[in-house]
Amino acid sequence: MHILLMGPPGAGKGTQAAKLVEEFKIPHISTGDMFRAAVKNQTELGKKAKACMDQGKLVPDDVTIGIVKERLSQDDCQKGFILDGFPRTVEQAKALDKIVAELGLKLTGALNIDVPAKELIERAVGRRICKKCGETYHIRFKVPAKDGICDICGGELYQRADDSEETMKNRLAVYDEQTKPLIKYYKDAGIYKQVDGRQSMDKVYSDVVAVLRG
Ligand code: AP5
Ligand code: MG
Ligand code: ZN
Repeated sequence: MHILLMGPPGAGKGTQAAKLVEEFKIPHISTGDMFRAAVKNQTELGKKAKACMDQGKLVPDDVTIGIVKERLSQDDCQKGFILDGFPRTVEQAKALDKIVAELGLKLTGALNIDVPAKELIERAVGRRICKKCGETYHIRFKVPAKDGICDICGGELYQRADDSEETMKNRLAVYDEQTKPLIKYYKDAGIYKQVDGRQSMDKVYSDVVAVLRG
């Protein structure tokens, strides 16, 4: 199963990817998570990425394509992968087609988690993430038992730097302009699938599995 999750910011890509990883035991590759790790470790990549991320803009294609190519070339991707947040431009999609072909693999699905823009700001602004294990919560939709503390590992919860209302508006505008055209790209390629992301997390997941098994 070589798939990509392509919903707008805050649609639930990371939430659904975590469940898919558990069930299908294939790697979850999130370019956003890779950039955030680089920012935290203050690497050269992190410095380049931070300026773009803080403004809700995309990291340049050449940088992003480079890190994805390196990651997909690792052995654990042969049997499957879940790409989350990549590709995000038509240029990235074309590059991905080339990378996958060079590796002798085939994309099996491009899955859009569809959520209307007006619900996405609340999802992002209310998101909280565990510093230690990365589990994602929401102040209304997935409330931890103890305020600010992870249910799983007891770690402290934090808010992503780009989850302010203002930055989120930019992220949504960037999505409309640069990422939305990928819906047509993957429809034309014959691998486009869509689920209704407004439902409960569990219902979205059962729909995701159903369309992937198609
Ligand atoms: P990235 O980290 O990919 O962010 P994003 O695409 O904006 O998506 P999010 O992670 O915000 O949302 P999600 O869909 O994962 O939602 P989640 O499951 O957490 O990218 C960040 C930045 O990195 C970009 O802006 C860009 O600068 C850079 N970047 C990354 N990839 C790039 C690329 N390819 N090219 C260039 N630049 C790139 O859920 C959100 C919240 O909602 C959570 O609190 C969750 O609990 C809740 N929730 C989830 N599902 C539901 C539900 N069904 N009902 C109610 N609440 C729900
Ligand atoms: Mg995410
Ligand atoms: Zn935790």
